[in-house]
Amino acid sequence: MYKGSARAYTNIALIKYWGKKNEELILPMNNSLSLTLDAFYTETSVTFEPNQTADHFVLDGVVQDEKATKKISRFLDLAREKAQVNWGAVVESRNFVPTAAGLASSASGLAALATASNAALNLGLDDRGLSRLARRGSGSACRSLFPGFVEWEQGEDDETSFAQQIPSNDWEQDLAMLFVLINDQQKDVSSRDGMRRTVATSSFYPGWLASVPTDLAHAKSAIATQDFTALGEVTEANGLKMHATTLGAVPPFTYWSPDSLVAMNLVRQLRQIGLECYFTMDAGPNVKVLCQRKDEDALKQALSQHFAPERLILAHAGYGATVI
Ligand code: PMV
Repeated sequence: MYKGSARAYTNIALIKYWGKKNEELILPMNNSLSLTLDAFYTETSVTFEPNQTADHFVLDGVVQDEKATKKISRFLDLAREKAQVNWGAVVESRNFVPTAAGLASSASGLAALATASNAALNLGLDDRGLSRLARRGSGSACRSLFPGFVEWEQGEDDETSFAQQIPSNDWEQDLAMLFVLINDQQKDVSSRDGMRRTVATSSFYPGWLASVPTDLAHAKSAIATQDFTALGEVTEANGLKMHATTLGAVPPFTYWSPDSLVAMNLVRQLRQIGLECYFTMDAGPNVKVLCQRKDEDALKQALSQHFAPERLILAHAGYGATVI
């Protein structure tokens, strides 16, 4: 029996990954840049057993169905192939997210599974190898291996597409991100389906793609000079452009719900009265608000006029994935 356990934290992109140029290898259309956070994480253990033929996946104590297990099996196949083992595995995963979060995190989950598999099977992967492996499970997972600011270099093949930490003199410790958890009845469009549809059909997609290198350069220079205004402005603009591509898709769709718009408007109003903060969103209705740590209490206070306190969760810069 081979066993390994690991913890990995979630990350939120400031410059978004949106669209794949290779679905099988999960090679993205563009570079992305994220902040790893401390508030949400996943702990996963994987046990490969000699007499086991099938894989089993238990998430938060619940045995998962065939579809969810298949995704895990496909990922484990990559690790098994590297180790030249064909044993089945039991994967037990726990998501540590505050109650009522509604935040399923494939990034922390697959980063934890990659790290646990590396330990269990003695794959001996270094940071780059681990990031490449995690990428095959879920694109954004390749960024969750590392703390602080992280850039995922899109690359052109399996070897060249991986993430690495961006030097920042620990500036991320001065920042905070407030999650506004928005209850939404709408049926989700997964990030995978959403990307596929916008790449294939949205007339706005080429405009998005053309604008990313400039946004990325601005974000990196803002990090280098510790310019919060510049980082916030490019984060908000980049996220809005990504979401605009979904409106041009056929058929069109959006991840925004009425309360997402309420949160976005509040952020703009707060800025006008001097509380500097900026929003971003991913493939769901939740709004994430970037601010400086010194303003986090005031921001939470202001947003709690409109959103219940248990729907507001504060996060700070988090840690890289570790074996536990
Ligand atoms: O890696 P996925 O399939 O969870 O896609 C993530 C896509 C976004 O969250 C919308 C953007 C990003 O870069 O994280």
